[in-house]
Amino acid sequence: MRRILVIGAKGMLGRDLVETLHTSFPEDEITGWDVGEIDIQEERSTITRIRDLNPGWIINVAAFTDVDGCELNEKEAFAINAEGVRHVALGAVTCGAKVVTLSTDYIFDGKKGSPYLEEDSPHPLNVYGRSKWKGEQYVQELVKDALIIRTQWLYGKYGKNFVASIMRQAREKAVLSVVNDQVGSPTYTVDLSRAISLLIEREARGIFHVANSDACTWYHYARAILKLSGIEGVKVVPISSKELAYPAVRPAYSVLNTEKLKREMGFTLRPWAEALKDYLSSHSEQG
Ligand SMILES: NC(=O)c1ccc[n+]([C@@H]2O[C@H](COP(=O)([O-])OP(=O)(O)OC[C@H]3O[C@@H](n4cnc5c(N)ncnc54)[C@H](OP(=O)(O)O)[C@@H]3O)[C@@H](O)[C@H]2O)c1
Repeated sequence: MRRILVIGAKGMLGRDLVETLHTSFPEDEITGWDVGEIDIQEERSTITRIRDLNPGWIINVAAFTDVDGCELNEKEAFAINAEGVRHVALGAVTCGAKVVTLSTDYIFDGKKGSPYLEEDSPHPLNVYGRSKWKGEQYVQELVKDALIIRTQWLYGKYGKNFVASIMRQAREKAVLSVVNDQVGSPTYTVDLSRAISLLIEREARGIFHVANSDACTWYHYARAILKLSGIEGVKVVPISSKELAYPAVRPAYSVLNTEKLKREMGFTLRPWAEALKDYLSSHSEQG
């Protein structure tokens, strides 16, 4: 029996991940902690809590994920996404736990023009990306054989996300303006959770890019959401990122190359449109 600790267990990915781990590893003990049980910004208590639980695996999905919020509050972004990850890594060292931590496509600047490989040099454009990149570096420095999973454009039934937002706006407005100059791969938290389980089963280490396959812009993604939900009479208008003037700059093209996952682990995730269809058929009331 393994003891697996999920930190960030009440977040969008965390909830699906805990459910998936229970199904994938019925013999193991799965513990889920979130802000009620641990504050990863606190070095001493984070290390003590982890050491006392003595897990064999720690999967850290806790983060400050509001990209514009991070831009406006750099101190908190680094306290959670960088120092918080360092504290978790230090806790893991006290009990020899294996560490899995989640990272993001936003560590890249989006200027490459083709899908990013694990070994491509990070060059984040915003505070969120910089803080997550620092978190990656801490884990690599402190924990031997840690697993870093970079993913992107997540949606799932448990969190605020683009799918829910488009569904809600479609009920309120006849015209939706959606950005058409950022390209990525929408990724379903259930698919990602299954991939994380498989990576744990195979004791993967190092960096892996994990996302649903194929890519699109937010505009094409919004159109697919409406089409697959059977919503008619709502017009989607393509706009540029500049027109929205969000506090944080986003990469224009941050598609993750997932060939390493296929080559070394023997699987990839299904196309994003297929996963989205599956999600919408069971959660059409969301948003
Ligand atoms: N969402 C995306 O599109 C996306 C894309 C790429 C990578 N990722 C990465 O994937 C992971 C999961 O993302 P997600 O969207 O599931 O995030 P999420 O829904 O925001 O969940 C993160 C969880 O961590 C908790 N948390 C925040 N600060 C904490 C602290 N100091 N101590 C303990 N827990 C804390 C949050 O609690 P509160 O809600 O109360 O703050 C929340 O329950 C993150 O590492 C994220 O950076 C996400």
